[in-house]
Amino acid sequence: MNRRELLKGLGLTAGTVAATGLGALAAPVDTTAPNGRNEAPGTGNALAAKKKRALRIAHITDVHMRPEHDAPKRFRQCMEEIKRQKIDFFLNGGDTIYAADYGHITRDRVNEQWAIWKQLREELSGYEMHSCLGNHDMWWAAPDKADAMYGKDHVVKQLGTPGRYYSFDKKGWHFVILDSNNSKAGSLDEAQRTWLEADLQQLAPNTPVLMLSHYPLLAACTSLDGGGMHTDYKYLIDLFYQHKDKVKACVSGHIHLQDRVEYNGVQYFCNGALSGFWWEDGDKHSAGKCWYQQTPPGYAIIDLYEDGTVENRYIPHSF
Ligand SMILES: [Fe+2]
Repeated sequence: MNRRELLKGLGLTAGTVAATGLGALAAPVDTTAPNGRNEAPGTGNALAAKKKRALRIAHITDVHMRPEHDAPKRFRQCMEEIKRQKIDFFLNGGDTIYAADYGHITRDRVNEQWAIWKQLREELSGYEMHSCLGNHDMWWAAPDKADAMYGKDHVVKQLGTPGRYYSFDKKGWHFVILDSNNSKAGSLDEAQRTWLEADLQQLAPNTPVLMLSHYPLLAACTSLDGGGMHTDYKYLIDLFYQHKDKVKACVSGHIHLQDRVEYNGVQYFCNGALSGFWWEDGDKHSAGKCWYQQTPPGYAIIDLYEDGTVENRYIPHSF
């Protein structure tokens, strides 16, 4: 999402929308507590104690890396905070660079942004990072479609992913990384639908699945903003219902707002933006410095358990 898109959304009636907002925000995780959770000694119930965590993931989205506003330094500070939380790997939800998608963006500007990202990613070389494509990552203004920097292939190379969509397995969980950037965005194209249907079908029954997309597959906060969610959500909800023993959670970004929705037993987390207000101070609608509306800049720590349960905590950062 960008500021032009957001201004479109600010005229909408917000009264009927139930974004969870600040109530779902979390303080930084106390890594000395069992499972790194913010619990006073003795307050965990017996059921929670029996749950075994399989993975801890940092979900960063809408990094919007740029040279301005000291963004690289502030990103590094965020990463130091995240590293202390003993994560297994990163999910990067797209809009990794500030913007390549506008008609006036030059080759040099695109290269400048990706060069900063490359350096920052190298500094995190000890960590796996699985990324998806954001709408601002692609350079559509290349002189022609044969240009090596045109469109999605170049972004896939910059992110080092196996393709524009893919899946992988880890510790009993299955991860699906989607490409939302298709006609009627966000949406899946026909080839991706066929692939996703087969990918879910081949899984053993009850295999827990987490999906990553840039645009939310389903969200409440999209009514507070013009950025929009997946337009093919009915298709997705029907597909997930066919695999309701598998699909547990879907995480996204794009809106720069934070919410959670549960539908048919699937949890949908829209996890704000690491860059908040694109690393800028904000505007008259910002509830705090660098906030977008009432969502502070932040990231999510997601704990996945062997029993298929998910805990997603949005953690504001102060950098
Ligand atoms: Fe964004």
